[in-house]
Amino acid sequence: MANDRGHWTSRAGFVLAAAGSAIGLGNLWKFPYLSWENGGGLFVLVYLICVACVGLPIMVAEMLIGRKTQRNPVGALREAVGPGWGWVGGLGVFTGFVILGYYTVVAGWSLQYFWKCLRWTFGGFVPGTASGESFEAFLGNGPLQVTLAAAFLALTAWIVYGGIGGGIERASRILMPALFGILVLLLLRALTLPGAGQALAFTFVPRPESFRPLGALEALGQAFFSLSLGMGAMITYGSYLGRRESIVRSAAMVVVLDTLIALAAAVIMFSVIFTFELADRITGSTVGMLFMTLPELFYTRLPFGQFLGPLFYVLVAFAALTSTISLLEVVVSCVIDERGVSRPAAVVGCSAATFGLSVLCALSFGAWPALADLQLFAGKRGLFAHLDHLAANWLLPCGGLAITLGAGWFMTREATASELLDEATPRWFSYGLWRFFIRYVAPLAVAAILAAVVRGKDFS
Ligand code: TRP
Repeated sequence: MANDRGHWTSRAGFVLAAAGSAIGLGNLWKFPYLSWENGGGLFVLVYLICVACVGLPIMVAEMLIGRKTQRNPVGALREAVGPGWGWVGGLGVFTGFVILGYYTVVAGWSLQYFWKCLRWTFGGFVPGTASGESFEAFLGNGPLQVTLAAAFLALTAWIVYGGIGGGIERASRILMPALFGILVLLLLRALTLPGAGQALAFTFVPRPESFRPLGALEALGQAFFSLSLGMGAMITYGSYLGRRESIVRSAAMVVVLDTLIALAAAVIMFSVIFTFELADRITGSTVGMLFMTLPELFYTRLPFGQFLGPLFYVLVAFAALTSTISLLEVVVSCVIDERGVSRPAAVVGCSAATFGLSVLCALSFGAWPALADLQLFAGKRGLFAHLDHLAANWLLPCGGLAITLGAGWFMTREATASELLDEATPRWFSYGLWRFFIRYVAPLAVAAILAAVVRGKDFS
């Protein structure tokens, strides 16, 4: 069975694909935005602690469970942890479906803005076409929103259809190096702007006064989201991994790459904000920065912007695509393994189901007022915001908590050690330390933050 499931052709291929899953809109859009809203430095520090103490151990746990069992999250948890654990995998697959539903909508915008930028670069920029009103009009254009989400989903499905080595790995080998190259270019441009110093200070110097306690939950949720943890994405990718590769090394590389790219994106955004004194213009708007402020700047004020504009949206599209691929693969692998369906049929069926949810999200920005005004979680408005909040702040941390408990308390020491310790294991790795983190530190941290928020909510 392990043989017909497909596999990565090399470790580099696996690392690129897993890093592709992790690096996405979460890094480019959510991390800078959350860091900005939470006052910079201290939030970034809490985020880094979450990544190191919770993210890395769980990344290792997910990959090891996947490789050990060579199964999708439902089958993998059932086999590795115990018969009653299939539902944790099921919850993960459901979470993947939810995230995919709203993620494709923002991902689709990158296609539209890439096209717009090409027109501006070659046909001249028309003042006002990147303004707030034109963005609002774009959001409210239901048919266009649905078309873009469908296009992005179709692109994703096409790659997942190609399977592991020939589809996902091949795409990652092209998309990821391109993404790194573009990001370095943008970073160089940003660091030579006059506001770069202020941006670096804002990002890296902790200032307690601007931090809200709720920010800790957001940092934790963001760590899960950004690293693609808590829903079995890394179980799924790990399940296509051969026995020779070191899980620890691969996991560490993915975590480091993802974190560096999130920090780079934040520094880029903040340099632009400080240089052009945009601080008042961007508060309260999650996506405004990427789709309103930046395009206008590229064409009106930023030297070399004509050239960087289209490249920037290629970056967003590529980053999003390698993530939607991984989200769809989680759902598809579950349907293939658990239902015995063929890959082509599973891809078509899962994409169609996702499209149903995407349509609702695509219309929730104005085209369908009831969805746009929906209120459930305090401070959030609209279906899109609710799904994002539900997935990142509740489903992923809960899934992650279950996975740490499963790997730390329900799997034996022998079962995990045999996957982690071999000749390929890097010398710096201490199994005892990992086990301590996965048994005590990670679950307590997740539980404490969740508990604090639940209590906080009740009191408010
Ligand atoms: N990590 C991706 C990002 O940062 C989003 C993502 C892809 C994801 N696959 C996932 C999140 C699986 C959670 C689980 O944009």
